[in-house]
Amino acid sequence: MSDSNNILDVKNLSIQFGSGDGLVRAVDGVSFAVGRGETVALVGESGSGKSISAAALTKLAPRAAKFAGGSIWFEGRDMLSLSERELRKIRGSQISYIFQEPMVSLNPVFTVGWQIEEAIKLHQKGIDRKAEVQRLLDLVHLPERLATAYPHEMSGGQLQRGVIAMALACSPALLVADEPTTALDVTVQREILNLLAELSEKIGLSILMITHNFGIVADLADRVYVMQKGRIVEEGTTQEILYDPQHPYTKQLMAAVPRLHPRKEHYFTAEDSENTEDQK
Ligand SMILES: Nc1ncnc2c1ncn2[C@@H]1O[C@H](COP(=O)(O)OP(=O)(O)OP(=O)(O)O)[C@@H](O)[C@H]1O
Ligand SMILES: [Mg+2]
Repeated sequence: MSDSNNILDVKNLSIQFGSGDGLVRAVDGVSFAVGRGETVALVGESGSGKSISAAALTKLAPRAAKFAGGSIWFEGRDMLSLSERELRKIRGSQISYIFQEPMVSLNPVFTVGWQIEEAIKLHQKGIDRKAEVQRLLDLVHLPERLATAYPHEMSGGQLQRGVIAMALACSPALLVADEPTTALDVTVQREILNLLAELSEKIGLSILMITHNFGIVADLADRVYVMQKGRIVEEGTTQEILYDPQHPYTKQLMAAVPRLHPRKEHYFTAEDSENTEDQK
């Protein structure tokens, strides 16, 4: 059963590729949970099984992947027992994904506003779609004029904001963000992370953040799971993991971060910007 405080409960999940001598245990008895409104990070080096775990939540794992055990509970429903039709309903209406490369989610030949509108069309009936596009653009702090821009006319950060607006068109309960800032330069990364933190606060979005970057964890996550070779080797609150890592692999990952902030940073709120103004 699932814990009702959690929006997502993954228990003992195992996913394999191949068989016999070629057997790869990509995900090997992994358990993690995301509480309501919580931001949880899944951290680990390349190939540790983060993306497969995330895709598996809505059974989007590659065709060759075999579910070898465990369970996935989302909003009290046993995801692995649902039909493809039921899963389709949940994908993109209750669980949204964003990825490293915004152009994976966007079509180059349509304006971003049009694509956001299409996402609205899929999920919300009988509403003023133009007004909803504006609301979503506002929510991700994109200027109104970009509704009529084509992807090639926008920067990487603007594109990722557009993709986040699309992902929010269905008012998802859970946003799965798989390396959402890896392709962006550092200042833009920070802006996108601030936006995600703001959304989690403002609309109560639960976020599963996948990253290999401990700096991102420090800034954004409430709790952390550290993955290595398909297993979770350590879990804890962000504070615990950052200041008192136990597992050698976690220590090693931490050492790879050039500079960690002395404490968890908070995000700019209206109040903060007033304070910042004061300090100028
Ligand atoms: N289509 C596939 N066929 C066979 N093995 C696969 C396939 N996709 C993934 N794997 C295996 O699953 C493991 C986990 O892959 P996954 O994409 O989840 O890693 P990751 O932690 O997201 O890495 P990265 O940080 O590079 O994105 C890989 O090491 C690989 O061995
Ligand atoms: Mg990955």
